[in-house]
Amino acid sequence: MKTARAWQSHLRDLLTMAGSRQRPHLKRPVWIMVLVSMVCLFLIAAYVHPLGSSTTCNFFTSRGCGIYTAEELVPSRELTDDEIYSRVVVREILKTPPLESKNPKIAFLFLTPGSLPFERLWHKFFQVVWGKISMVDAERRLLAHALRDPDNQHFVLLSDSCVPLHNFDYVYNYLMFTNVSFIDCFIDLGPHGTAGRYSEYMLPEVERDEFRKGSQWFTMKRQHALIVMADNLYYMKFKLYCRPGMERGKNCYADEHYLQTFFHMIDPGGIANWSVTYVDWSERKWHPRSFRVEDITYELLRNMTTMDQNIHLPKVGANQTMPVDGQRRPCYLFARKFYPETLDKLISLFSNYTVV
Ligand SMILES: *[C@@H]1O[C@H](CO)[C@@H](O)[C@H](O)[C@H]1NC(C)=O
Ligand SMILES: *[C@@H]1O[C@H](CO)[C@@H](O)[C@H](O)[C@H]1NC(C)=O
Ligand SMILES: *[C@@H]1O[C@H](CO)[C@@H](O)[C@H](O)[C@H]1NC(C)=O
Ligand SMILES: *[C@@H]1O[C@H](CO)[C@@H](O)[C@H](O)[C@H]1NC(C)=O
Ligand SMILES: *[C@@H]1O[C@H](CO)[C@@H](O)[C@H](O)[C@H]1NC(C)=O
Repeated sequence: MKTARAWQSHLRDLLTMAGSRQRPHLKRPVWIMVLVSMVCLFLIAAYVHPLGSSTTCNFFTSRGCGIYTAEELVPSRELTDDEIYSRVVVREILKTPPLESKNPKIAFLFLTPGSLPFERLWHKFFQVVWGKISMVDAERRLLAHALRDPDNQHFVLLSDSCVPLHNFDYVYNYLMFTNVSFIDCFIDLGPHGTAGRYSEYMLPEVERDEFRKGSQWFTMKRQHALIVMADNLYYMKFKLYCRPGMERGKNCYADEHYLQTFFHMIDPGGIANWSVTYVDWSERKWHPRSFRVEDITYELLRNMTTMDQNIHLPKVGANQTMPVDGQRRPCYLFARKFYPETLDKLISLFSNYTVV
């Protein structure tokens, strides 16, 4: 199970495209890409969030990743040539204005070991007829493939145990009209974070202070997806030195650290620092709570849908500012983990709990 989590070493594989389908009956023509990767069987993010004070889910709240001033972002040491090359590429991509698209789309990437148990629920979400997802080899050409469609402006990674919490239009607007990627990112100094996982082999590029943690379930704007494609330097560092069975019995899981640390280093203001996929760690076990059919009630789903504070986020000293429009927004668009047996109940409740 642990080795399975090293899927991140195939980071770019996860964007394997299995098929794309048009959505014919929408006001806005939207294509949906269903990207399926078979890289591993167990994709359970088995880490425990440290409990902390609550943080409002607005887009202008810093948390978890520390507070950085402009000076601190200027490296204190001389960069290696590779780092300089990498920064030039990243900076150029970030400076490039997003592509103008008349038909902006969101690519939904399902990372699943096989079938998609909630296919019927997702079908309701997309309101399209979608056939059986054909599995294709998971290799890096897939991100390239998804990126090749210039209309794909945002990429969402979901697991097979994820379900939607809002209707499609809500999710579309939430992601499309936000200028950040929702990448979970925080400091965990404990044994399941820096202390137990960081390795000095990552030096000089990745310093201990820069090491970050977060859930693997992200959404990413196009520029960030391009940067992931362009990155080889940090990708190799994590592939080699953030894996199970490192020195002194350290077990590092790149899926919880590579993107989190990388984006923290290269574009901290461009990520929201939290994941829009809800998960319940309140049982404080190795795995998050998995919901069974008897747990599924309108109230439970409504709670997830409307939650606008994340009680599990470690609080940092950053001053909180209210969002520009003065409104709080729900934190979560998707939720996990659900047993397949919950499908029928979720379908019967879907239109009720997704009402905004
Ligand atoms: C995320 O955290 C970083 C600090 O690491 C901060 O600079 C950035 O502003 C935060 N992002 C948002 C959208 O608040
Ligand atoms: C996103 O938009 C907000 C508000 O307009 C702005 O303050 C922030 O700098 C923008 N962030 C990025 C990464 O463009
Ligand atoms: C929903 O949230 C309310 C208020 O926080 C809480 O009292 C209640 O127990 C929650 N219900 C479920 C089913 O989680
Ligand atoms: C943050 O809050 C403290 C205490 O309220 C205040 O002194 C400081 O000026 C604030 N910093 C910023 C950047 O707003
Ligand atoms: C959903 O809402 C409709 C209309 O309010 C109601 O008739 C129906 O019983 C609700 N379904 C469930 C499963 O609660």
